[in-house]
Amino acid sequence: MSTPSHQIPGYQIGPLLAADLPAALELWGQTAGLVLNESDTPERLAAYLDRNPGLSRIARSDQGLLVAAVLCGHDGRRGSLHHLAVAADHRQQGLGSALVKSCLAALAQAGILKCNIFLLAGNEEGRQFWRSQNWSPRPALEVHQQRCRLP
Ligand SMILES: CC(C)(COP(=O)(O)OP(=O)(O)OC[C@H]1O[C@@H](n2cnc3c(N)ncnc32)[C@H](O)[C@@H]1OP(=O)(O)O)[C@@H](O)C(=O)NCCC(=O)NCCS
Repeated sequence: MSTPSHQIPGYQIGPLLAADLPAALELWGQTAGLVLNESDTPERLAAYLDRNPGLSRIARSDQGLLVAAVLCGHDGRRGSLHHLAVAADHRQQGLGSALVKSCLAALAQAGILKCNIFLLAGNEEGRQFWRSQNWSPRPALEVHQQRCRLP
């Protein structure tokens, strides 16, 4: 794995591959501030990675442990990040910031101009992280959702 411009000593940052999904799901499942749902099965997430090749990221410790992960994709116009998590023992060392920067660089390479994230109401730690990284809330926008059904 190599992402030369976003290196953190003691860790390697690289693409999140389908083989990493069990460990990433374990990390996400243990992380307060994130919610997993029916779309977060290994099969659905493998389809997400297939549709957005090379954009999602993990960090591994030098011991080979997956300690951070984020899903990254785009729809041809805007990028999205989901499930950014750094294992509690590995926080405050720049890993979250490095994963996000690596994703934004990959999106820029794909010609995407802007990226969105979805923050759970009440996740103050997450809010402070995104603010520190110069992400701006869009109070004029709400997320609305409906289930997709066959006719
Ligand atoms: C948010 C999270 C990914 C940050 O990961 P991290 O590796 O600790 O972040 P970084 O070390 O890259 O921090 C970069 C900057 O963010 C800010 N920051 C990070 N965590 C913070 C916290 N708990 N409170 C306040 N500021 C914080 C700091 O300004 C930090 O800069 P500094 O190191 O100069 O102080 C991590 O805390 C986490 O996994 N949280 C739970 C999951 C979550 O909320 N994810 C976001 C969902 S939208």
